Amino acid sequence: MALILGIESSCDETAAAVIDGNGTTLAARIVAQRIASQDEAHRPYGGVVPEIAARAHVEVLGPMVEAVLADAGMTLDDVDAIAATAGPGLIGGVMVGLVTAKALAMAADKPLVAVNHLEGHALSPRLADPSLQYPYLLLLVSGGHCQILEVAGVGQYRRLATTIDDALGEAFDKTAKILGLGYPGGPAVERLAREGNPKAVPLPRPLVGSGEPHFSFAGLKSAVMRAKDAQRTFLRQAQDERSEANPETQNPARPEPVEGRQPYSDADIAASFQQAALDCVIDRTRIALATAAPGMTALVVAGGVAANAALRGALEALAAEHGLPLVAPPPKLCTDNAAMIGWAGAERFALGYTDPLDVAARPRWPLDDNAAPVRGAGVKA
Ligand code: KG4
Ligand code: ZN
Repeated sequence: MALILGIESSCDETAAAVIDGNGTTLAARIVAQRIASQDEAHRPYGGVVPEIAARAHVEVLGPMVEAVLADAGMTLDDVDAIAATAGPGLIGGVMVGLVTAKALAMAADKPLVAVNHLEGHALSPRLADPSLQYPYLLLLVSGGHCQILEVAGVGQYRRLATTIDDALGEAFDKTAKILGLGYPGGPAVERLAREGNPKAVPLPRPLVGSGEPHFSFAGLKSAVMRAKDAQRTFLRQAQDERSEANPETQNPARPEPVEGRQPYSDADIAASFQQAALDCVIDRTRIALATAAPGMTALVVAGGVAANAALRGALEALAAEHGLPLVAPPPKLCTDNAAMIGWAGAERFALGYTDPLDVAARPRWPLDDNAAPVRGAGVKA
């Protein structure tokens, strides 16, 4: 283990970190880290625009690397290797980070470690919790991925489940869009869900109760869309009925009952969606726990959606049923960051894994190359 400069640029966060692989606590391991979110640049479009993302990475990354090294009180000469995300992700952004890392590696004559972004997420719980040992069962839930994997060691992954359509974070983001909550949607849906009734809107739980191990969220998303349409229709009718008595428009955040009919609010939709999505995740994870190889040391959750407190609570209860601890990195390490890339780089470097300077950026890069293709999976990025 050693001092590693980590670089992340696969989606809409530009990030750089200096990681001490010999650190025995999280605080000692993250020597310095910086992160610049592009949320503002993408907000008007309701999602990440790849071209805008790549340009923003170009503008920010160089100065950020200098700054994070200064924060750490180091120069490039002090680090032992440079690790960068080489995929999967938006290819323009990935190339910006990887090419920057290659240039730095060449200039400073340091080894390069090409990191799979998903491996960054997968190992982030070990960065956060030094006591976490292999093998563990990992629920990886982000904007682009939704998988359950056995993690037996660095580079040793067996996929037990994936999504046949949308990723869990994508379902949160689409629900946010339907409710007009803006981008990024997951945290906004979680916040609004706290004020709603999770039983107010009947929504489907795709695949729950089936023996099928995989995820599906497309049907849930469509049901959320229909629920919002039904609410709109109700409010419009209510408006018509009362237009003479009360010319004010009904507020979807706090709709008033009409002649004894109680409409549901946006918060009710958010809460009902979140409950349905979590019911799906818990059901799928229960199947995975039953089919995983023996000897798993923990149930681990990582990726952006792992920042969701309701999800953590539900997983904690499930893990306890199986006599396992739930390990979840602090929310800031769940969403994209460079500390996890530096950490994965440190674990790889410690095993002697480095990469040639002509290593290619990969838009797609599964953790488990042997996983059988699943109907619907892989159709989208
Ligand atoms: O891992 P990440 O930062 O980027 C990807 O690699 O995709 O994950 C981002 C995803 C987004 O879909 C975002 O809405 C979701 O994670 N997310 C959340 C929460 N925080 C982030 N979803 C639900 N609840 C949250 N608190
Ligand atoms: Zn990610």
